[in-house]
Amino acid sequence: MAPTKLPSLLLFLFCLYRSSACYHPLDPLTPSEISTIRSIIKSSHLASSKSLAFHYVGLDEPDKPDVLAWQSGRRAALPRRAFVIARADGQTNELYIDISNNKSITSDKIYDGFGYPRVNVEEQTAASALPLNYRPFVASVRKRGLELKEVVCGASTVGWYGEERQGRRLVNLLCFVTGDTVNLFMRPLEGLTILVDLDAMEIVEYKDRRVVPVPKAAGTDYRASKQEPPFGPQTKPGVVVQPEGKGVTIDGHIVSWSNWVFHLSFDAQAGTIISLASVQETENSTHRSVLYRGHVSELFVPYMNPSEEWYFRTFFDAGEYGFGLSASSLEPMMDCPANAAFMDAFYAGQDGRPVMIQNALCVFERYDGDPSWRHTGSEIPGTAASS
Ligand SMILES: *[C@@H]1O[C@H](CO)[C@@H](O)[C@H](O)[C@H]1NC(C)=O
Ligand SMILES: *[C@@H]1O[C@H](CO)[C@@H](O)[C@H](O)[C@H]1NC(C)=O
Repeated sequence: MAPTKLPSLLLFLFCLYRSSACYHPLDPLTPSEISTIRSIIKSSHLASSKSLAFHYVGLDEPDKPDVLAWQSGRRAALPRRAFVIARADGQTNELYIDISNNKSITSDKIYDGFGYPRVNVEEQTAASALPLNYRPFVASVRKRGLELKEVVCGASTVGWYGEERQGRRLVNLLCFVTGDTVNLFMRPLEGLTILVDLDAMEIVEYKDRRVVPVPKAAGTDYRASKQEPPFGPQTKPGVVVQPEGKGVTIDGHIVSWSNWVFHLSFDAQAGTIISLASVQETENSTHRSVLYRGHVSELFVPYMNPSEEWYFRTFFDAGEYGFGLSASSLEPMMDCPANAAFMDAFYAGQDGRPVMIQNALCVFERYDGDPSWRHTGSEIPGTAASS
């Protein structure tokens, strides 16, 4: 074995022990770290609670000065820590966990303010299924002359409009008719109020105020493959040719391209996070920092119809539902071109176990900007402008 291979072999052996030395300090939690967090919490005082549900498990990032010191080699590996929001017996617990040293809960607080943790995937699914077995709802569907098997529901947070503390985690269910289209938002079941208490997982209020006709499915599908010419697919699939290989290199979560380097991460709430983006100076080989940490902080979509069934439809996509939790697997050749590299992402499910979103992120080079970079003029010697 060549002597130069020794350090990387040592690092590899070290990494078998899952030491924090193997991680970039901003790397997202790995499946095994998520499992470790679950077992730490399952053996804590919360283990005896009758209901324990995980609502957020994410990296508790080291402070910026520590990360910068680590990056410049002035600090050794930084400890891995996690931040967890868990519901247990009707209370919201905020926990900080040390995953690398003594594997313990270092801080544990009960959140007592307004508001609740974001709805997790499993409880959205469970709540959405409730109306299908709820007699008054079944009657409402029949009254509208619709088939129950074509009805789907989704959960919408109720928000806060200045009232006294609700004391309950509530969602309203919005129901739609699918049928021959996937564009279910075009076919709402209007006039209904279906209020669900998430902790009790039951319908606590139901109202059928008025019947509004449901638009027909024909012509509402937005999928290109379902559309008739001339609105059908107009473009043909292409290929990407990079005879000298990809220009992007990915090492763990570090992405390098041209004179740029950045760290690419994933979080259940924030979704995609780009950190420590830097560009090489033109004069020398040092890198200039351009961005410490960047992600979309929120997407607020207020539909704002003042009627009883619509006023609360104000979506905080990151804070209430999680950009990361809402991510779906990217389709090679459809969402990302042939030269894309994919990255899987992990989050903790309601039971704390790691859940994988395969191909959650993709990285690719795109040919972009020829028109803006080409320039010529008749005065430039040797140009073909005069010929
Ligand atoms: C674990 O480490 C933290 C600091 O990282 C410390 O506050 C805590 O007391 C330690 N717990 C145990 C059980 O050693
Ligand atoms: C590299 O170039 C930049 C920009 O000119 C300059 O600010 C910096 O001091 C240089 N670094 C070194 C180590 O020469």
